[in-house]
Amino acid sequence: MKFFIDTADLAQIKEAQDLGVLDGVTTNPSLMAKVGIQGKEAVMKHYVDICNISTGDVSAEVISTDYEGIIREGEELAKLHKQIVVKVPMIKDGIRAIKYFSSKGIRTNCTLVFSAGQALLAAKAGATYVSPFIGRLDDVSVDGLNLIEEIRVIYDNYGFRTQILAASVRHPMHIIECAKIGADVATCPLSAITALLKHPLTDNGLAQFLVDAKKFA
Ligand code: E4P
Repeated sequence: MKFFIDTADLAQIKEAQDLGVLDGVTTNPSLMAKVGIQGKEAVMKHYVDICNISTGDVSAEVISTDYEGIIREGEELAKLHKQIVVKVPMIKDGIRAIKYFSSKGIRTNCTLVFSAGQALLAAKAGATYVSPFIGRLDDVSVDGLNLIEEIRVIYDNYGFRTQILAASVRHPMHIIECAKIGADVATCPLSAITALLKHPLTDNGLAQFLVDAKKFA
């Protein structure tokens, strides 16, 4: 399973990259606003800065919601860097745009996916990635992981090559369950990735080994 980090914070991206397990980055307009990026020029530069830190795919989201606007923005984003994947919302014009991008060899991430039917459409349009938001489903008492399972079955039934990118991941158990189901990617906050490192028996065991090591040092 690939690990993407879900942030626009350059320090966090660098920390995850330095860990050696990072496969890419996802951003969205809220994450860009959170780090104080404003204005088109600054936004475009920030995407390039992210690409220069990460060695993997970097999802950059379009703001337009009409077909022509999505195409214009997506083509501009794709030209920025070879690692850019154009993130397109799951709306009618978005699906049409994904189909167009797919025919032009521009990679896409279909975002804001909350149902198996939406994921099926994204795959048929040729999306490179589909992003089901599991945490936001859990927030409204719907099992987000169940959606990942449904999409896995559907994609496997027909050999769709669209990668399931579990998004809106909130904690390490989301990552582990996604790995068990067979999600291709999980995009996570840094805290969820580093939480995978932790186990009290590891800490206790290491402390004891270090105490014992002093006996023969
Ligand atoms: C990533 O592609 C999504 O935009 C992101 O995971 C959404 O996460 P949130 O529900 O924590 O905002």
